[in-house]
Amino acid sequence: MPRPELQAPPEIFYNDTEARKYTTSSRIVEIQARISERALELLNLPDDGVPRLLLDIGCGSGLSGEAMTENGHHWIGYDISQSMLNVAVEREVDGDLLLADMGQGLGLRPGVIDGAISISAVQWLCYADKSSHEPRMRLKAFFGSLYRCLARGARAVLQLYAENMDQSTMILTCAMRAGFGGGVVVDWPHSSKAKKAYIVLTCGPPSAQAWLPKGKGEDGEMCTDSDEDSDDENETVGMYDRSRPRKKMKVNKKGRGRAWVLKKKEQMRKKGNVVPPDTKYTARKRKARF
Ligand SMILES: C[S@@+](CC[C@H](N)C(=O)[O-])C[C@H]1O[C@@H](n2cnc3c(N)ncnc32)[C@H](O)[C@@H]1O
Repeated sequence: MPRPELQAPPEIFYNDTEARKYTTSSRIVEIQARISERALELLNLPDDGVPRLLLDIGCGSGLSGEAMTENGHHWIGYDISQSMLNVAVEREVDGDLLLADMGQGLGLRPGVIDGAISISAVQWLCYADKSSHEPRMRLKAFFGSLYRCLARGARAVLQLYAENMDQSTMILTCAMRAGFGGGVVVDWPHSSKAKKAYIVLTCGPPSAQAWLPKGKGEDGEMCTDSDEDSDDENETVGMYDRSRPRKKMKVNKKGRGRAWVLKKKEQMRKKGNVVPPDTKYTARKRKARF
């Protein structure tokens, strides 16, 4: 069977039949619950009993959201499939549900969210389903809006099934460019079936809280049968450091004096653009102290 991402866009693949099939499979329910619990653990929320406002991005029928409800948190679920959300409504999940495409950004106010999880969903952004889709731009919009809506120091934990190393690298690069720091935690790295990769992202400057735990089974610990009862579509990806892009420095290229500016202005006028008149101040040098 080819990967779901290669078969149809998510809003078409997860139609009424598939949404129901997905949610009634006891195997899927169990696996998604286990992954969601682990993602919540990796969120590292303060253990003070205070309910937090969290996001579930690509929430589907609410299997992953249930873990947040069980842990006493409020959540907002985003999904692009109306059928998946219909099943979530039928199941009376506690989260607020939004029919939205994460590739267009999350559209939330800055700093209002305490943490975000996304379970088995973000890899869908790596596929262009329409001529207007450019995966890098969609990942940029997604991570940019995620970074903005998270409170400083908050985390986002994304469990995903990248098809290959190029996709993993593209996703991580876009997250770093948005300003996130963090890394990848791989559970059961030696089991082809149970291996799961979690991208753990931190918003804001690195702090003492920005620890990353070891993946389960890294020390040779054996996984149980239930841990192995899962898909084997994931990849191991390496650790990375936070690196916010530097602001571009203005380059003072030689030869761009008054003559060059006048020539450019003339070219713009010929193209019919409105250009300020040339004066004695055009392209003048400014003093070092302005
Ligand atoms: C494998 S399901 C996982 C659902 C849920 N997180 C769970 O653990 O059961 C992936 C979900 O991601 C959603 N999805 C895919 N691309 C999306 C996008 N661009 N925006 C929002 N949701 C998307 C799909 O509609 C689908 O419901």
